[in-house]
Amino acid sequence: MMERIYVFDTTLRDGEQVPGCQLNTIEKIQVAKALELLGVDVIEAGFPVSSPGDFNSVVEISKAVTWPVICALTRAVEKDIEVAAEALKYAKRKRIHTGIGTSDAHIKYKFNSNREEIIERAVKATRFARRFVDDVEFYAEDAGRTDNEYLARVVQAVVDAGATVVNIPDTTGYCFPDEYGAKIKYLIDHVDMKSAILSTHCHQDLGMATANTLSGVINGARQVEVTINGIGERAGNTSLEEVAMALKSHKERGFDTNINTQKIYDTSRLVSALMNMPVQPNKAIVGRNAFAHSSGIHQDGVLKNVATYEIINPKDVGIDDNAIVLTARSGRAALKNRLTLLGVQLENDKLDEVYPKFLDLADRKKDINDDDILILVGRGAHLH
Ligand code: KIV
Ligand code: ZN
Repeated sequence: MMERIYVFDTTLRDGEQVPGCQLNTIEKIQVAKALELLGVDVIEAGFPVSSPGDFNSVVEISKAVTWPVICALTRAVEKDIEVAAEALKYAKRKRIHTGIGTSDAHIKYKFNSNREEIIERAVKATRFARRFVDDVEFYAEDAGRTDNEYLARVVQAVVDAGATVVNIPDTTGYCFPDEYGAKIKYLIDHVDMKSAILSTHCHQDLGMATANTLSGVINGARQVEVTINGIGERAGNTSLEEVAMALKSHKERGFDTNINTQKIYDTSRLVSALMNMPVQPNKAIVGRNAFAHSSGIHQDGVLKNVATYEIINPKDVGIDDNAIVLTARSGRAALKNRLTLLGVQLENDKLDEVYPKFLDLADRKKDINDDDILILVGRGAHLH
């Protein structure tokens, strides 16, 4: 029996906060529809009180999307919550995501307040949001740096006030995976969650967002907050594609999502193009090199059997095939394979003759293309 993990996508809220990544309403609808096709459970569509543009986008996304829950962010402020409720009025399924900072740094420096007052504000905001919607998610901002005992009191208070989901953000990307997992476990063990669930929301400042998210899941979180390509504040958020493929690749762990993984690559390209945010070539799952083999030893292995160096079938993420990239590190097997694909069959003695010339060219020219190879074997276009 697999445990269902709900995927909450915040590309259009936490992701869109990145400077230079702003989208207009039409573009946001395009992304929201792609997320719906991808199978995400919740789309965080924006922070309506922040600007008329964000408000309007939440309204239009609510009209355009049918299946996923549409979520709007607020601070623990009544005006924010009223505006979010208004923006969500056309959503078929809606959620208000309200919250407040709970770490000592946030309580002292952001709110000039104290722990008891923060709990009161959290409860008040949750109750107020429940007046408008049945589904209220509470975030304890900077939970990663909030001590567990106090955090458990906050979580219990908001669950008692009607929160259906409680988000435990590692806002500053500070936690180690074991520490974040232990935090989730502590909450599961010390809070009467009723029917509410815990959510992960991890940032990438120390490169541990995916590891922390998975550690949260293993320890009891049932929702993951993610973005496409991992875009988000500073170093970014946990990336959807990494979590979805990690869970799919490790079915034995017993977790399942609703993500149609074959749509991952197209969604990644769409977000990258619209947000003008290139994906790093070595990005897990969706980077240009994620399924490209370039060293001779790896190419030889993959040509014998892909199981040697591939843990994911590229088709599972919507990429047609792996790539054998010809470089000065490639061996005879890769060269022979490329020639065969180009319709040229060479006997081994002829291959032995061509191979040193290929290496010589590859040392001089970084990017070897099919024409280069055909010229090497006397089949270049100009020789026909
Ligand atoms: O990182 C964070 O704490 C957030 C909250 C607003 C959910 O994005
Ligand atoms: Zn965040």
